[in-house]
Amino acid sequence: MLIDGHGRVVDYLRVSVTQRCNFRCKYCMPHTPFDWVPHENILKFEEMFEFIKVAIDEGVKKIRITGGEPLVRKDVDKFIKMISDYAPEIDLAMTTNGYFLKNYALILKQAGLKRINISLDTLDPKKAHFLAQKSVLHNVLEGFEAAIEANLIVKINTVALKGVNDNELISLLEFAKAHNSTIRFIEYMENIHANDELKSLKRDEILEIISQKYSIKEVGKVKNSPSTMYSIEDGYQFGIIDPHKHDFCDTCNRIRLSAEGLLIPCLYFDEALSIKDALRQNDIKKATEILREVLRNKPEKNRWENKISEHEISTRAFYQTGG
Ligand code: 5AD
Ligand code: SF4
Repeated sequence: MLIDGHGRVVDYLRVSVTQRCNFRCKYCMPHTPFDWVPHENILKFEEMFEFIKVAIDEGVKKIRITGGEPLVRKDVDKFIKMISDYAPEIDLAMTTNGYFLKNYALILKQAGLKRINISLDTLDPKKAHFLAQKSVLHNVLEGFEAAIEANLIVKINTVALKGVNDNELISLLEFAKAHNSTIRFIEYMENIHANDELKSLKRDEILEIISQKYSIKEVGKVKNSPSTMYSIEDGYQFGIIDPHKHDFCDTCNRIRLSAEGLLIPCLYFDEALSIKDALRQNDIKKATEILREVLRNKPEKNRWENKISEHEISTRAFYQTGG
């Protein structure tokens, strides 16, 4: 079992397979031309897989493939199959912007993917264009439908932004409900790569908006997930991910592996250790030692709620850590 320095069991590994993305979301990488990373710095799938096997053997039960946009990396389905063949019982998931999903959903499902989270911040094509800086909504919605048809468990992730999609939270919720999908509203996390003008809608504001139409009951935190769940009167449940809340990190069970081989214990802080050299030298023992050290030093909690200065937030972008 993997336990961090604060006694939390870590059984969830997020693996970012690429920093590249075909969108330029304002809350993620609005100005990034393309942070060019030499190809040799990116771990091969086989190298990542060697580490993943150890992580699974040590007690990881859930793996999520992220990016950038994971579907821009070639052969990601083969990578999923490697993991699924090794440990079919693993809760194997992906987070995607959905753009390429129409042609990929069934392939991913057949490779062993179980669940998929799709980013959908708006149902208005113009707003989607504004946010992703590209005309994307049509493809994303087709991708969403394809994922449902492929029998993947599909969740929707919506970053809630003041003045951008506050007037759409109810329609997004109803859209998700109509498709038997769970929607989670995510508080925007400030970071230096994002557009300065964006303002987060906080949990209470999100609840306030939804309560204009529905009466809401708090259900509580779900195990192994950062979201707090709420139900409306017909029993439909939606989630809110509120990293600004003081006890958000109490149940943190995750660690991240970046495409360049960094083990990252927390999104908020810069600290991370590389296992790239260890993996390239086939030194799995060393990689495991590094994993244990990262876990020992995993920060107790983020400080989005009461940061001391803007400079203390990690300079690492979300597209490098996989959100
Ligand atoms: N704040 C909150 N969520 C973010 N994501 C990316 N950047 C941010 C941010 N600054 C989330 C989006 C997307 C996922 C890949 O990461 O929800 O769905
Ligand atoms: Fe790409 Fe996702 Fe970042 Fe948007 S949030 S730019 S889709 S990695």
